[in-house]
Amino acid sequence: MNEIEVEYITKKFGKFTAVDNISLTVKKGEICGFLGPNGAGKTTTIRMLCGLLKPTECKGTVNGLDIMKNFEQIKKRIGYMSQKFSMYSYLTVEENLRFWGNCYDVKGRKLKERSDYLLNKLSLVELKNTKAGILTGGTRQRCALACALVHDPPIVFLDEPTSGADPIARRDFWKLIRELSSENITVLVTTHYLEEAEYCNNIILISGGKMIAKGTPSELKASVEGKIVGKKEITLEDFFIYKTESIYNK
Ligand SMILES: Nc1ncnc2c1ncn2[C@@H]1O[C@H](COP(=O)(O)OP(=O)(O)OP(=O)(O)O)[C@@H](O)[C@H]1O
Ligand SMILES: [Mg+2]
Repeated sequence: MNEIEVEYITKKFGKFTAVDNISLTVKKGEICGFLGPNGAGKTTTIRMLCGLLKPTECKGTVNGLDIMKNFEQIKKRIGYMSQKFSMYSYLTVEENLRFWGNCYDVKGRKLKERSDYLLNKLSLVELKNTKAGILTGGTRQRCALACALVHDPPIVFLDEPTSGADPIARRDFWKLIRELSSENITVLVTTHYLEEAEYCNNIILISGGKMIAKGTPSELKASVEGKIVGKKEITLEDFFIYKTESIYNK
């Protein structure tokens, strides 16, 4: 069974449809990129898949669990790095890890071992006694990732994990994402940096709550070849702009 298997998922806020009948399939260990302009519905979809927001309609599973019925169990099996700053500013890096570990029922020696492993893996050892509130871009994001991984989840949802980080921090963060994938952890990630999306196995492009394309980065680029005047070598950015502008100009 696929780690994420959704035949359809929809979210309405009153009369407004934020996510409109999206389908997606993500295999174990795959990196799935979720792209779309601001307000497209990426965060809303992620929050539904994490069991944090109840869909209006949905047929699908996350880690084999029914999204509509088993959202409480789903929350425990996934890691979520939210788009907003999600750590406690006045707690140190290590205290944040301990706090999130306790929330997921990881305690005692197991929590100490897991924290030490993550501090080491995410190059946070020297910062473990630093208050989270004074961390800068890249280190702050690595700390948030460590918190999302503290209970060793098989799937992680990363909502714009690299926004605001410098190019080197972003490159290093994507190295970590690829390492997670090589450890068979499934990753669903949103980004507005389209050169990063090249690292994804599969990409889903949404706009106005609707899915407008999906495929591997090469498939998506090939789909607009010859359609963009004066462009021989198509980048994902060209594809993104072409597809989203053609939706707006319809
Ligand atoms: N609780 C809510 N009530 C009403 N509307 C909402 C709510 N949450 C989100 N929306 C609306 O749903 C749409 C999708 O929002 P969402 O945050 O999912 O977009 P996004 O693709 O993550 O955008 P961004 O790239 O800016 O993060 C937006 O128009 C937003 O204003
Ligand atoms: Mg968002």
